[in-house]
Amino acid sequence: NLPKAVEIREVGPRDGLQNEKIFIPTDLKVQWINLISETGVRHIEVSSFVSPKWIPALADHHEVFEQITRHENITYTALVPNLKGIEGAIQQKVDEIALFISASEEHNQSNVNASINQSLQNLIAVAEVANREGISLRGYISTVFGSPFGDEVKLQTVKEIIDAYLAMGVSEISIGDTIGVADPVQVKAILSELLTQYDSDLFALHFHDTYGRALANIFAALELGITKYDSAIGGLGGCPYAPGASGNVATNDLVNFLHRLGVQTNIDEGKLFTATRFLQQAINRQLDSKVYKVESN
Ligand code: HMG
Ligand code: MG
Repeated sequence: NLPKAVEIREVGPRDGLQNEKIFIPTDLKVQWINLISETGVRHIEVSSFVSPKWIPALADHHEVFEQITRHENITYTALVPNLKGIEGAIQQKVDEIALFISASEEHNQSNVNASINQSLQNLIAVAEVANREGISLRGYISTVFGSPFGDEVKLQTVKEIIDAYLAMGVSEISIGDTIGVADPVQVKAILSELLTQYDSDLFALHFHDTYGRALANIFAALELGITKYDSAIGGLGGCPYAPGASGNVATNDLVNFLHRLGVQTNIDEGKLFTATRFLQQAINRQLDSKVYKVESN
């Protein structure tokens, strides 16, 4: 009993490019995002209003937002960690802000130079401004299935962050497997527990594919009725502040898998191929997506 349709969020321009060693020129990013807008996907994570010293690959966040062609029925999102970030997001009239925090104390410290409690205070301040400005909010929780630093991640901490996000007015929460260590049994156990307390519509799932288990994990989540998934074209992605993290599940592999299962995505596989080929030429290396490899041979 799988859902009839799911929503896919293309995170490649943000999660994908944040981890690339070589700076992709702004005009190539813009052309790529414009091609993504043609695929039928309804949510695109464009960039992050974070410190250019911490994430140099996305230092052109303003220029990218200024130059892309926006479609009315697509939500264009940016990550924001603090008040300086939301100033940029307001200036660029982003449709949605994604807040982020880690359920691992050590990963949070590494990623945003703050404790979980300090981060929550920063995010409350950001959310207040977003609510005042009428900008909708998504919230990420990282390392739910395991921390890159080996510290224990408690489900209780995850629940406290969910409750804090709800109090901030966050309408969608993305549960992240930052380093791609989850397995389907763990996914079912954690989600089943969360679903005793929260509605399934609240959650999106965000799997990195380090061990090749992301599609199996997504199948487990589909069986529990989760209908929102994050993915990156070609399987780009990773968090520079999470050692060992590799790419997100590839949008190409996810869309092909879902269509094969009879689950609708609204994404056109031909147009997705075009956007992926453009990316591959722009970054000039082999992409991890299995489906793209098959299609490009
Ligand atoms: P800090 O060094 O503690 O902050 O960094 P600071 O306030 O001392 O500022 C340092 C410098 O950055 C200053 O510049 C600020 O102006 C500037 P300076 O005076 O030295 O010239 N700055 C900014 N510039 C632009 N935009 C801003 C901004 N804020 C400060 N918003 C900070 C703290 C949060 C800024 C930093 O740690 C940071 O930017 N971290 C971002 C890390 C990041 O983006 N990680 C990847 C995203 S999370 C992820 O990938 C996981 C996810 O995919 C889900 C999953 O997989 O689990 C979402
Ligand atoms: Mg990620």
